[in-house]
Amino acid sequence: MRRILVTSALPYANGQIHLGHLVETIQTDIWVRFQKLRGNECHYFCADDTHGTPVMIRARNEGIPPEALVERMHREHLADFLGFHIAFDNYYSTNSLENRILSEEIYIKNRENGHIRTSSVRQAYCEHDQMFLPDRFIRGACPTCGAEGQYGDACEACSRTYAPLDLRDPVCALCGAPPVERESEHFFFRLSEFESFLKQWTHSGAVQTEMANKLDEWFTAGLQDWDISRDGPYFGFEIPDAPGKYFYVWLDAPVGYMASCWEWCKRHGRDFDAFWRQADQAEVYHFIGKDILYFHTLFWPAMLHGAGFRAPTAVFTHGFLTVNGQKMSKSRGTFITARDYLDQGLDPEYLRYYYAGKLTPRVDDLDLNLEDFVLRVNSDLVGKVVNIASRTAGFINKRFFGRLTEAYPDDGGLHQRFVEAGVEIADLYETRDFAKAMRIIMTLADQANRFVEAQAPWNLAKDPARAEELHATCTIALNLFRLLMLYLQPVLPVMAERSREFLRIPPFALEQADTPLCGHTIGEFLHLAVRVDPKKTESLLHQAAPPPVAVVVPSPSPAPFVAEPLAETIDIETFARMDLRVARIESAEAVPGADKLLRLTLDLGELGKRTVFAGIRAAYAPESLPGRLTVMVANLQPRKMRFGVSEGMVLAAGPGGGDLFLLTPESGAQPGMRIR
Ligand code: 2FM
Ligand code: ZN
Repeated sequence: MRRILVTSALPYANGQIHLGHLVETIQTDIWVRFQKLRGNECHYFCADDTHGTPVMIRARNEGIPPEALVERMHREHLADFLGFHIAFDNYYSTNSLENRILSEEIYIKNRENGHIRTSSVRQAYCEHDQMFLPDRFIRGACPTCGAEGQYGDACEACSRTYAPLDLRDPVCALCGAPPVERESEHFFFRLSEFESFLKQWTHSGAVQTEMANKLDEWFTAGLQDWDISRDGPYFGFEIPDAPGKYFYVWLDAPVGYMASCWEWCKRHGRDFDAFWRQADQAEVYHFIGKDILYFHTLFWPAMLHGAGFRAPTAVFTHGFLTVNGQKMSKSRGTFITARDYLDQGLDPEYLRYYYAGKLTPRVDDLDLNLEDFVLRVNSDLVGKVVNIASRTAGFINKRFFGRLTEAYPDDGGLHQRFVEAGVEIADLYETRDFAKAMRIIMTLADQANRFVEAQAPWNLAKDPARAEELHATCTIALNLFRLLMLYLQPVLPVMAERSREFLRIPPFALEQADTPLCGHTIGEFLHLAVRVDPKKTESLLHQAAPPPVAVVVPSPSPAPFVAEPLAETIDIETFARMDLRVARIESAEAVPGADKLLRLTLDLGELGKRTVFAGIRAAYAPESLPGRLTVMVANLQPRKMRFGVSEGMVLAAGPGGGDLFLLTPESGAQPGMRIR
């Protein structure tokens, strides 16, 4: 059994999770789930990347300490990722004690080994804000083409890069005052000393070929020493023995991978050293986007090496996401957050499947074409995969008491071909060619559908003399479906779980593929997938980002509605008797036999948990809800319903049916808080 540690890049704590982040976390999660399915020991670690000037400034603008901002973003990020079934073993924070200890160790060891030097640096300084200005906090005209309002690092008009002090008429982006030049002492990591180590590491198979070529260009250009320090005020870790100097955010960010692992090791009684200090005890893989290649394939392995830690086994780089062929951008309306997607009631597994269908081991950009998305999901998942079970399970239940045939019927070698294809599919998952794996799985699904159509169980069912054939056909179809769901499980964990539930079988493992299921009783067919409504993807694009207010309706209803007349006036005492609370939706599930209801488990923090039946099923897919905050009437007398006791009510706005919007408190609200 292999021991594997896997990471995705740590999202910045000053922004929301968007569909671009999800390309990477979904890619990583699929790979991790595949490794687990294969029986390997595999751990997935991530964290928020919390330090740096942007977080500090945003917290200052919000009038809160950076720690409070970081904590709030952590909760939001985690809820978003969980909404897409990303199964981290640990999602931690770079603003943690573990990260401080490890960052200091890495720095001090490198210093002891002579890999750190200091020198004086001239930088733009704002006397009004009393801080040095990072590139993004200084604006001016491009020194080459004269375009106004450019940042301090590169011109968006002519793409030239330059130093911030080269800008013409520079101003501080915070206060508009012209900056002055100031000198201060900075610490540099001597990257150039690691050239031969890095060349050898790069060519050990640690990066994709395309990326190795890019690295060769950098080697040819010559490795530059790296400025790892920033002057205060700065939100980060102070550098040992250097008061007022802080580690640049990119120094402690990747150390966050180790910190997340360490914190997990402590909780699980596991040996951290086996992952990071010894080279032969574990494999370490980082999934990243191509924009941060330099940090992960030069600075990071060099820093680890310089401090006596192991280097990563490999860094897997992917391309960028485009939406309908365009770069994601707020002004074009193609900037879609994870929350926007979930709020539309779109199934997170559909995005997982769509991305899987486009992810390859190469570094090409990936386009989310929303029309194609609807077609693909509807035709592959609903039309092909689920169809096999939905057309056959009912006969097994109605005609054969839910029991599959005692022996596996002759299927002309179909099941065996499915089993054999599993070997290739596993190889494709391993090598991250998910696109090809999905193509093969869908070819198998086509074969299964052709089989069902040729046998036409709906006709067999009309003839009592052909009951045996009907039994055999449906047993075969469900066995083929079972293999498809096994193969799709890394991509569609929830659909796979629900399939297992209705097939009444234990968790999937790749090695049980070749034993068909016979003489076994299945349960009622569970509804597995609904067709995507193209209106939902259209409104994703048109969703304007609403400004945060105390209670917001998450997605504006596109349809005009007629307001209901106002209800009878109540006095303030009557109003005050109603106890409204912030609740976090812990789980949401459909209620069999009640097509309008969802059973919600609501977390009220210290006040405990509540079960509430809410008539919002037409508006929200259950899997889109866990992690969300909503508003509930907490002191409503519990009501006994046909399905159980409902202990409160959640508040929603809208005419009803699919046009219903759960009220969502602004992030930062905590479960249990009273709404006034
Ligand atoms: O580019 C980014 O979004 C960074 N926050 C990634 C950090 S990855 C790791 F090094 F921490
Ligand atoms: Zn200023």
